[in-house]
Amino acid sequence: MTRRFLVGGNHKCNGNKESLKSLIEALNCANIPPKDTVEVVIAPPTLYLDYANTQINRDRFSVSAQNCYSESKGAFTGEISAEMIRDLALDWVILGHSERRHIFKESNELIAKKTKHSITQKLQVIFCVGEQLSDRNANNTEKVLDEQLHSLSTALSVEDWKNIVIAYEPVWAIGTGVTASPQQAQDAHVYIRKWLAEKVNEKVSSETRILYGGSVTATNAAELAQQSEIDGFLVGGASLVAASFITIIQSVS
Ligand code: G3H
Repeated sequence: MTRRFLVGGNHKCNGNKESLKSLIEALNCANIPPKDTVEVVIAPPTLYLDYANTQINRDRFSVSAQNCYSESKGAFTGEISAEMIRDLALDWVILGHSERRHIFKESNELIAKKTKHSITQKLQVIFCVGEQLSDRNANNTEKVLDEQLHSLSTALSVEDWKNIVIAYEPVWAIGTGVTASPQQAQDAHVYIRKWLAEKVNEKVSSETRILYGGSVTATNAAELAQQSEIDGFLVGGASLVAASFITIIQSVS
């Protein structure tokens, strides 16, 4: 089973219209593999989604929201819905990022509910999982992944999984400059794939793309990309710098 590489650039709460304009101009001119070889998705802050989608070359790139709520509409001040993302003609949303889980205290259940609702609205979801350093040190990495994946699988039908890309992002590697070693990343990805085979089915296990995220840079991406179970990256800081992000995209092909 060949899984198409995917590279996501999660801008988090960074940048402004001017920096996004420069980034998009550089991406539009970049010498990168075609979309059918490497899929590239950028996720600017919500306020800039529409701008990004009108400026970027949509034959080569997609634009993703960084989050959305579990309901269609209503009295949920500050939230956006999957319906609104679709209304902008976007196809992607990131859900369950560790910053949503740990800073904003989103539960496994809420994230699963958001994911199901997003899929009903025909969005594709980059669903993030990953352990904290204390979990890893206590040999609880697999337990944390089990819990995060279990609540997702209870919310989804088998059919829904074709709209899911999993991003394994060990929290201790995010924004720290400490990348998981290629072997550490590979081991976690193997575990997630085994989990999918046992708890969902073999087809979902072999077809679901699993990205690695956590201090991916232009320097370490190529070695990580050589691991058989790494199907791409979810990049934070380095996705804000055009030259770095382009090198990362080039290194997966
Ligand atoms: O969503 C992206 C991840 O949180 C990784 O962020 O590349 O800055 O470590 P980072």
